[in-house]
Amino acid sequence: MTQDELKKAVAKAAVDYIQPKLDNDSIVGVGTGSTANFFIDYLAEIKGSFDGAVASSEASAERLKAHGIPVYDLNSTDALVVYVDGADETNPALELIKGGGAALTREKIVAAVAEEFICIADGSKWVETLGNFPLPVEVIPMARSHVARELVKLGGDPVYRENCITDNGNVILDVHNMAITNPVEMETAINQIVGVVTNGLFACRPADVLLIGREDGVETVR
Ligand code: A5P
Repeated sequence: MTQDELKKAVAKAAVDYIQPKLDNDSIVGVGTGSTANFFIDYLAEIKGSFDGAVASSEASAERLKAHGIPVYDLNSTDALVVYVDGADETNPALELIKGGGAALTREKIVAAVAEEFICIADGSKWVETLGNFPLPVEVIPMARSHVARELVKLGGDPVYRENCITDNGNVILDVHNMAITNPVEMETAINQIVGVVTNGLFACRPADVLLIGREDGVETVR
């Protein structure tokens, strides 16, 4: 199977997984990226069995609206029954690296609100130790150089992501060459640097369920 076929398989599996949890009042949290896009397309097929969605990016909001799915502001909703999103890496504890699409901050906010966080990923995202994928860090623009120096002190090699402004008007530093053996500590330490909005480690709030696409089918990991 191609990587896209694996992404489609987990996206479809996610819709099948959440459908019994939905009713007419349910708001679904929706992530960002190519796997999340496939999820949005399958979600549109069960439009009418839930109320609407909260999106973790402008791009996902536009895709949802194009399918006729109502998109709500997070502040106007009481609860999100589920949040479904992709990842750049996942380890066996379902701790993640996210933010390859620069949507990490809104993704982390939506994940924090959701009752259940379902990660969908093709098998290439599975790793024993996080950090081979450069860790995205969203930074207030004027703090970019300061934050980069602090990230070097933590052992990383930050690279400014050219031509990328986040939906929040900030910039991204991608931190290379970090073997992240204690993700909770690293997530917390990076978030303590003044000027950091957040980083792409989802370890303090890992996924609850991982649907991972492998050649022999979709595996559910909890
Ligand atoms: C977006 O900022 C990311 O967190 C995505 O969820 C992640 O990059 C996975 O993207 P793909 O589904 O395109 O691989």
